[in-house]
Amino acid sequence: MGAGVSVHNCAGAEDMAVGVIGAGGMGARHADNLHEAIPRARVGGVTDADGSRAEAVAARCGGAVYRDPLELIDDDGIDALVIASPDETHAALALECVRRRKPVLCEKPLATNVEDARRIVAAETDLGERLIQVGFMRRYDPQHLAAADALAAGTVGRPVLFKGWHRTRRAAPGTTTEFVLFNTAVHDLDAVRWLLRQEIAEVYVRGVNTDRLLDGVLDLQLIELSTTGGCLATLEIYVTAGYGYEVGVELVGERGTVHIAPPQAPFVRHEQVRSQRLDGDWLSRFRDAYVAELTRWVRAVHDGVPPGPDAWDGYASAVAADACATSLRTGTPARVPDAWDGHGPPALYASGRPRNDRA
Ligand SMILES: NC(=O)c1ccc[n+]([C@@H]2O[C@H](COP(=O)([O-])OP(=O)(O)OC[C@H]3O[C@@H](n4cnc5c(N)ncnc54)[C@H](O)[C@@H]3O)[C@@H](O)[C@H]2O)c1
Repeated sequence: MGAGVSVHNCAGAEDMAVGVIGAGGMGARHADNLHEAIPRARVGGVTDADGSRAEAVAARCGGAVYRDPLELIDDDGIDALVIASPDETHAALALECVRRRKPVLCEKPLATNVEDARRIVAAETDLGERLIQVGFMRRYDPQHLAAADALAAGTVGRPVLFKGWHRTRRAAPGTTTEFVLFNTAVHDLDAVRWLLRQEIAEVYVRGVNTDRLLDGVLDLQLIELSTTGGCLATLEIYVTAGYGYEVGVELVGERGTVHIAPPQAPFVRHEQVRSQRLDGDWLSRFRDAYVAELTRWVRAVHDGVPPGPDAWDGYASAVAADACATSLRTGTPARVPDAWDGHGPPALYASGRPRNDRA
């Protein structure tokens, strides 16, 4: 075992006891996956601000119910944590996990502002351990992985343009213009960094309000950006698209393109209409990716190897999202500051970064 983790014996099995913080849509899915599909791990405990949700998940997946996330994190019988409570709780809970030297799969975003994300990177750097993996699950999606492979093989030549779109049916309660960037666009900003293996250099963002009920919130945002390697990108983020959930990418290279298309359901022909079902949300679109993400995370914790997308990736995406917010505020392009004061990632994050998260 690495990362300072000792896995407790559970009825003779070397299963890792995972504490799940937040038993809503995403936390319940992770708990179900841990219970049903992930080798060498089990749900050890569950907590939620709404106790009845924690009880329902524990009844289905096992584990004790805790009233307080800190109690769960502090329990010596819990080896590692999944943080799936609301965005604004992530940074403080992740820091508590680092303090207790416990590995974490922290849902995105790592933090809702740059300062908090930076504190987490600093805490890991001081400790000298990478304990946090951030829930950028696209890195485990078979189509995204195939696209990464095609780019790495040079099949389409040097990438020059990334065109992404990300549409959700309706906005989460309390959505603000900045939430669209830190909660939603962080996935796309991470996908640019991961697929192109380049940092984001400059962003220019415009937005419009398309939903009267959202009272001035820019629910449709268009991010234009350039990268350190000279690529261009456009990212459409539309959180009230209404019709379904879709994520797509077209990567244009000097000799061809790679297209990550929304998966195709069968066509149904009926009464002169041909129809095709679309995904309603991320839970169906990325079903397999969530299982692969947890499987790899559990394996990494067991084997003591660095996690997939780490705190540095969470921090870099926060820095890029923050530059997007600046661009929206000023109406001008914003440079993305060099994330660690011109020194590049601390050595802790510079080594052993998997080229491809399938590894
Ligand atoms: N990676 C992805 O694809 C993906 C998809 C959806 C959501 N998310 C992220 O997962 C997190 C949860 O999202 P969700 O869709 O499950 O939301 P949700 O509202 O369905 O669930 C959140 C749960 O957290 C509970 N909660 C609130 N405050 C808490 C606290 N302080 N401690 C413990 N529990 C608390 C709520 O009662 C609720 O049950 C968010 O951060 C979101 O951004 C990631």
